[in-house]
Amino acid sequence: MEIVIYVVLASFTLSACSERINYTGYAVKRITPKTESQLAALKQLENIGALFWKEPSARGRPADVLLPPNLQGEMVNILKAMGSTVENLIENIQVLIDNEESAAKRTGQFGWTAYSSFEEINAFLLEQHEKHPNYTRLFSIGKSFEGRDLLVFKISRGSKPKKSIWLDANIHAREWITSAVATFTINELLNGERTGWTRDFDWYILSILNPDGFVYTKTNNRLWRKTRSTGLRCIGADANRNFGFHWMESGSSNNPCSETYGGKSAFSELETQALRDYIPSISKHLVGYISLHSYSQLILLPYGHSNKHIPQYDTYMDLGHRIAQATATRYQTMYTTGNIVDLLYAASGGSMDWVKGTHNINLTLTFELRDTGRYGFLLPPTEIIPTAEEFLDGLEVIVQSLRDGIITPDFKEH
Ligand SMILES: *[C@@H]1O[C@H](CO)[C@@H](O)[C@H](O)[C@H]1NC(C)=O
Ligand SMILES: *[C@@H]1O[C@H](CO)[C@@H](O)[C@H](O)[C@H]1NC(C)=O
Ligand SMILES: *[C@@H]1O[C@H](CO)[C@@H](O)[C@H](O)[C@H]1NC(C)=O
Repeated sequence: MEIVIYVVLASFTLSACSERINYTGYAVKRITPKTESQLAALKQLENIGALFWKEPSARGRPADVLLPPNLQGEMVNILKAMGSTVENLIENIQVLIDNEESAAKRTGQFGWTAYSSFEEINAFLLEQHEKHPNYTRLFSIGKSFEGRDLLVFKISRGSKPKKSIWLDANIHAREWITSAVATFTINELLNGERTGWTRDFDWYILSILNPDGFVYTKTNNRLWRKTRSTGLRCIGADANRNFGFHWMESGSSNNPCSETYGGKSAFSELETQALRDYIPSISKHLVGYISLHSYSQLILLPYGHSNKHIPQYDTYMDLGHRIAQATATRYQTMYTTGNIVDLLYAASGGSMDWVKGTHNINLTLTFELRDTGRYGFLLPPTEIIPTAEEFLDGLEVIVQSLRDGIITPDFKEH
């Protein structure tokens, strides 16, 4: 008998601070520093009210920066005068937020033509489990800081455990497209075109790894990224900098107010602890770990703490290129493949690095889904289905490679 854990959430009373942030007039600009001093100046913007959508990392590498109205004039002119290039990406992000909301109101139910709420997603998971009770399970691997269940949807046909693939999403709260793609994937595996994939593999899908943050993006601040654990000065840690593998070595902040705060210790967050404690129980069969993020259209290989290439780099790169070919076939969406540090910036303490480095799993990948900055985190709901479809086209290549058993893990390089 399966015990389904399904908790109806106590509504968290949001008092005076429950007001949703109004982002009217906030713009996103792509700023490329050319010198170290320009880079340093750019990094300072975070301290005066800018929010990085893509972190400044190096000379010549663009950063995407959300600027409140008061920073769009003089501040931008100073950066320009210093020699940085500035490109306008989004004029007024509130328009996009309003569009998301009206799509959700129009639809009024779970689906992939609008972004669903936490409750709608959980109801969908439960409904799918009840529809396919014999070979699915819905269970909690732990609780979030505010007490929400971290619900894993497991698909396992037959009586014996098979090679397993893990997929997780929404560790970063504002990356709504990721949980939408995760639930789309569940639906395809159960009711759609991809049911065949469940004959060879067991699937574990954790659609919302950071439920507190996710709910907060719906109620208060659309652009929240971190967990919601309380600290002395600021709330939350970047869960994807909190894993205990080369924790806090690079690309994470020890400032609790920073968006990339790694937490007060490795695995300080309940959400990362849950993964730490659960993954070992399935690691024997686990051959694929995939983490979904947005945005940038990247297929990222380990590791994030160093640009030293893993021993299977060539195999991974070859696979990544084939995945990218597949994701491009339907809508010509171009994904780029590479090591995290080569493509983005150093970022240690991520979930993929920990899974790879600690559990010797054959294949670990991180996807940065659509888009490349036209809408960024505010990807229009009309793009959910195409994004999911092309992701599944890419996943097909992964499934095939894992069927062939061509990717061997290697523990040597840390
Ligand atoms: C946000 O602020 C703008 C301008 O101040 C205003 O016109 C708009 O109605 C506000 N939106 C909401 C949802 O409060
Ligand atoms: C599920 O399992 C039960 C008991 O083993 C069986 O009676 C039932 O037919 C199965 N349902 C499906 C849809 O396979
Ligand atoms: C995983 O790696 C092992 C070697 O350690 C190999 O025997 C196996 O075929 C690989 N499995 C897959 C699915 O790639």
